[in-house]
Amino acid sequence: MTIIAIDGPAAAGKGTLARRLAAALGFDYLDTGLIYRAVGMGLARAGQDPADPALAEAAARALTPEALGAGDLRGDDAAQAASKVAAIPGVRAALLDFQRRFAAHPPGGRGAVLDGRDIGTVVCPAAEVKMFVDASVEKRAERRLKELQAAGRGGIYADVLADMKERDDRDRNRSVAPLKPAEGALLLDTSDLDADQAFAAALSHLREKG
Ligand code: C5P
Repeated sequence: MTIIAIDGPAAAGKGTLARRLAAALGFDYLDTGLIYRAVGMGLARAGQDPADPALAEAAARALTPEALGAGDLRGDDAAQAASKVAAIPGVRAALLDFQRRFAAHPPGGRGAVLDGRDIGTVVCPAAEVKMFVDASVEKRAERRLKELQAAGRGGIYADVLADMKERDDRDRNRSVAPLKPAEGALLLDTSDLDADQAFAAALSHLREKG
């Protein structure tokens, strides 16, 4: 089974790249951020604190695949709640099995592309292909602002940038599974690449790997 592990910070372009690679190869795709978002928002919706370790771990253990389909998981509230539950070791441990099962037994049976923060380092360290997709925080904030505007939600650049920095900081400095490139990962800086160029660079890396 071939596993492609793609990690990187928010809005670096890893989701777009992961989806395109999965479609091109006929692999299944798992957006692992959505799992943390579902756990975080489940608590927030119930008026509970996503940073509470006991509550968050219980919510992670009780997570069902259906919860990943909730309509409010793409917004910034979900992103902030996700990064809070994601810093709790018991939550990460509870979600490992779900991710590893998907990687080892993707529904289509051909291969899996997973994206997140710790796929190459923790979830699938033996993945055949690893990539770390990054871009400057200013470029990532610009992209996120454009996405928000396209969705008719507006936003202020300074606020988006501050949110992005806060989440980066939490993800990079947490004690368990901090965001960092896996050993042997292709480093792909998309600050000056569009989605087509990033896809082309990833494909040529795949070809080199055979
Ligand atoms: O990728 P996305 O922005 O949806 O992820 C939301 C949050 O979930 C991240 O900021 C991070 O805190 C957490 N996350 C994680 N490990 C992953 C995927 C996401 O810690 N593999």
